Amino acid sequence: MLCERISKITPSYTVGITTKVKALKREGIEVINLGVGEPDFPTPENVKEAAIKAIHENKTKYDNPAGVLELRQAIADKLKADNQLDYSADQIVVSSGAKHSITNTLMAILNPQDEVIIPIPYWVSYPEMVKLVGGVPVPVETKKENHFKITPEEFSAAITPRTKIIFITNPSNPTGAMYTRKELEALVAVAVEKGIYILADEIYEKINFGHEFVSIASISKEAYENTITVNGLSKSASMTGWRIGYTATNLELAKAMTSIQGHLVSHPSTISQWAALAALESTEEETASMLKTYWQRRDRLLELFSEIPEVSVIEPQGAFYFFIDISSFRDRFPQEESLSLRVCDDLLEKHRVAYVPGIAFGNDDFMRMSYATDMATIEAGIQALKDYINSF
Ligand SMILES: Cc1ncc(COP(=O)(O)O)c(C=O)c1O
Repeated sequence: MLCERISKITPSYTVGITTKVKALKREGIEVINLGVGEPDFPTPENVKEAAIKAIHENKTKYDNPAGVLELRQAIADKLKADNQLDYSADQIVVSSGAKHSITNTLMAILNPQDEVIIPIPYWVSYPEMVKLVGGVPVPVETKKENHFKITPEEFSAAITPRTKIIFITNPSNPTGAMYTRKELEALVAVAVEKGIYILADEIYEKINFGHEFVSIASISKEAYENTITVNGLSKSASMTGWRIGYTATNLELAKAMTSIQGHLVSHPSTISQWAALAALESTEEETASMLKTYWQRRDRLLELFSEIPEVSVIEPQGAFYFFIDISSFRDRFPQEESLSLRVCDDLLEKHRVAYVPGIAFGNDDFMRMSYATDMATIEAGIQALKDYINSF
C-alpha cells in the first residue's frame, strides 16, 4: 500500500508526452518534438573540461552539504554583479537542480496544510511539489489581458491565515511573460504586509529579449528578507543533465535547507559543482549566442503565428516557449472533457507533432510549444498545426 500523499500526485503530462514520442520513435515513426523544455545546445566546452579536470584532481569526495565553497562564493558574486544583491556564501545553498532548490524551500517553510499561492498558468511541477511535502497548492486565476501575470488584487484575494508562500516565475514558463519593476513592487508590498514569502523562480533570467530583468529580492530591504531567490545553470549554460540549481535566502532558511539536503542527498555531485563554477566564470559568450538564436526563433514564430488566425499567442519576452490560445477550437469538441488534451493527442497521433496540453499548466484553453529546437523543426511543427486546422 502506498501512502496517501502519493495518491494526490498527478502524473506529469510532460513526461506522458515524452513517453508517447519515444514509443512512436521506437516504432520508426518520426515525430516533430515541440515539447522539450531544455536548450538544444551542447554544454559549453570549458564546462565539460572543468568536470574532467575535477575528476582527475580527485575532487570526487563528500564536501560541504550546502555546496562547494568556491561555487557558493561565485554564485554570491554573480548575484552581486548581475542583480545588485548582497549575499554571503553562507546564504547560498547549491542543490541538484532548481527543482531540488524549490523542494528544499518548501520543506523548510511549510507545516502540514499550509498554503502556497500558485498563479495560473504555472510550471507543471509546482503544485505537485507542494502536495509532496504536505502543503496545499492554491492555484489562482490570472487574466490573458495581463499576460497572465498575477496582480496585487488577485494575490490579496487568495490569501488566508494559512498562506506561507507565493510563487513568482520570471520570465514565465509557459508564457514567456516578464514582470516589470512596478508590477513586482506592488506584489512585494502585499507579501511584506502579510508576511508571505516570495519564491522567485528566476531560472530563465538569461533568456530575455531585451527587457529589464528585475530580481525580486533587489526591490527593497523588505523584499530581500521575504524572498527566496531560485536560479541555476540548466537553462543559462545548457546544463540540464548536470543538475545544479541554487537558492539565495536569509541565513536562517539557508541553514535549514542545508540541514534538510545534508540528510537527504548530502549535496549535489561535486563534479557537477566544479563544472558549474566554470560555467559561472566564463560562459557569457555561449549564453549570448544561445540568446541570439532563441530571439531569432521567437521573431520568426511571431511571423508564422500571425498567419494563423484560428490561434493567438502572447508575445514572449523571455524563456523559450509560446503559450498558444486554442480556445477557438472548442466548438469542434463540445463533448471533450479536456480540449487541450484532445488537440495535443490529435496533433501527435494524426500529424506527428508534439505540443504540451495547457491543462498541464492549469489552463485548458491553451497549449505550449517549446522553441528550444532548430528552425526546420519549428517550421515543420507550425505547418503540422496548419494542416490540422485545415483538416477541420
Ligand atoms: C520554471 C522552471 N523552474 C524550474 C525548472 C527546473 O530546472 P532544473 O533543471 O534546474 O531543475 C524548470 C525546468 O524546466 C522550469 O521551467
